[in-house]
Amino acid sequence: MKAVVLVGGEGTRLRPLTFTTPKPLLPVANQVFLERQLSWLAAHGVDEVALSLGYLPDAFRARFPEGRFVDGANREVRLVYAVEPVPLGTAGAVRFAAEHLGVGERIVVCNGDVLTGLDLGALVSFHDGRQAEATIHLARVDDPSAFGVVPTFADGEVKAFVEKPPRGAAPTDWINAGTYVLEPSILERIPAGLCVSIERETFPRLLEQRGRLFAMPSDAYWIDIGTPDQYLQVHADLLAGRLGPCPVPGAHEAAPGIWIQGDATPEGLGAPVLVGPDCRIEGDARVSGSVLGAAVRVAPGAVVAQSVLHDDVTVAAGARVRDSIIGTGAVIGADAEVVDRSIVGANAVVELGGCLVRARRPATAAPATSP
Ligand code: GTP
Repeated sequence: MKAVVLVGGEGTRLRPLTFTTPKPLLPVANQVFLERQLSWLAAHGVDEVALSLGYLPDAFRARFPEGRFVDGANREVRLVYAVEPVPLGTAGAVRFAAEHLGVGERIVVCNGDVLTGLDLGALVSFHDGRQAEATIHLARVDDPSAFGVVPTFADGEVKAFVEKPPRGAAPTDWINAGTYVLEPSILERIPAGLCVSIERETFPRLLEQRGRLFAMPSDAYWIDIGTPDQYLQVHADLLAGRLGPCPVPGAHEAAPGIWIQGDATPEGLGAPVLVGPDCRIEGDARVSGSVLGAAVRVAPGAVVAQSVLHDDVTVAAGARVRDSIIGTGAVIGADAEVVDRSIVGANAVVELGGCLVRARRPATAAPATSP
């Protein structure tokens, strides 16, 4: 089976991290997100993937060379790049990428920022059983007001698309979860070379024209990692074992809920936590509810809680990092404070004694530099 993975977005909601690293290449619990997604596709029988992109293409080529991808379980996928000259939107990009795959057959499409335990085989069987032209995976969320809501009839046929309904006014809690099975007839409906949205244009138009559009609800784990809150949430979920017992392949559980890659000892660590290779937690420093990438240094007196630190971060003595995301190589100066879902960009420096909080709260001082 062939798949198109949409990875061309700029990921503006995760800036400044995405100024330097495209969202699908950010680590999630110390594994590049796209690697998780390719592995999930391979586990469900996908053997050929077109990466549909335009933003920072060289970063993808460097990390996933065109040709073939082999995952940790030795499953192999052929990788093809479809680099758009201009952003074509989610439908235009699918058509463009499908042309690179040379398909005249059904394809699976997924957004490159979705982590899910969906049984893709079940979605394809559902699609077959209804002789659908397109089938959408639906996930249930507590607050659908930020999503495309998709009410269906009892057999799964789509009734309507309701984009971002006001809070409390959604007809259902089931939302478009960003994974689709599409027949070639859908690709023919997408105009070539134009910027077209699959959610806002292609699917609603198919509905108007009485095409066979279905949607399958699934209670499998699902999250879109594209906002700071959700990026932190996916880490909390992986640490809580919501996608499987181990947050990342190869980590070992040194004590209950304390996962370690490499040979760090559990001193200074409070469960749940994942610590990458070559980290140093010094003196009375404390790290809990967090994920540390490789070679992170947390100096004496520093506290890291409910946060995600990428590789090579330094948290200097007495600094506090809470509910925040710290990009690769960043330095949090001595006695500085980074809290409240702040994001520090790669190689940025929060100076000694600095305080970084999100703008909606009054900042006492913001002597942070960020790219
Ligand atoms: P934000 O800027 O934060 O909204 O993130 P985003 O740019 O990723 O946009 P969004 O989350 O709406 O996109 C959903 C998926 O479609 C992501 O996997 C994007 O990478 C992808 N995507 C969005 N627009 C395009 C496009 O024009 N071309 C391609 N190839 N992919 C796209």
